[in-house]
Amino acid sequence: MEIKARIGILGSGKGSNMFALAEACHQGVIRAEIAQVVSDVENAGILDRAKDFDIPATYLSPGAFRTKLDEDAELNYIRLFREAKVDWIVLAGFMRILKGDFLKAFPNRVINIHPSLLPSFPGLEAWKQALEYGVKYTGCTVHFVDQGIDTGAIILQETVPVMDDDTPQRLHARIQDAEHHLYPAAVGLAVEGRLEVRGRLCSKAAI
Ligand code: GRF
Repeated sequence: MEIKARIGILGSGKGSNMFALAEACHQGVIRAEIAQVVSDVENAGILDRAKDFDIPATYLSPGAFRTKLDEDAELNYIRLFREAKVDWIVLAGFMRILKGDFLKAFPNRVINIHPSLLPSFPGLEAWKQALEYGVKYTGCTVHFVDQGIDTGAIILQETVPVMDDDTPQRLHARIQDAEHHLYPAAVGLAVEGRLEVRGRLCSKAAI
């Protein structure tokens, strides 16, 4: 029997990307199973949506800081994912910066999706930044997580047009539609070992 990779997901929000990933695993598009979902927000939608798929879903206190996990919290997060025996950590709307020990615990195994075409518009509300800058195209980027903010090696990107009469909400929704197929495609490549990373360059390995 095929041994499937095990994915751990971290999220703070409504969980639409987690839903898309869970569906893709369920349909066999991603050859993996989501073994554990963790949120730093007690009543985050992502926890309920995970439970709809019978995926273990846990709130873990992030500790004292607003933008990162404190030291104890970081160890708790690592412990839970280790207990769940996950091979990959997938960030789906996790609103805290992960550094140091967490990245060391899962070296080159943490993936994120960002709602812009990186390196343009890193950081918060990237769709709003794009709209205010006046670009005609933006999009989404799946990338490995490194010590910086939205700086890791890029796995896949997809462009999304910006309309003249866009509102931040409409543009974000259009980007999210793209995210919901880009993220499963990228995570599928990762769990099948089909990504080759050299420095900051990532390409699809030949099969
Ligand atoms: C997505 O737009 C993603 O790009 C960003 O956070 C959002 C998460 O949305 N990192 P959801 O919780 O998956 O619906």
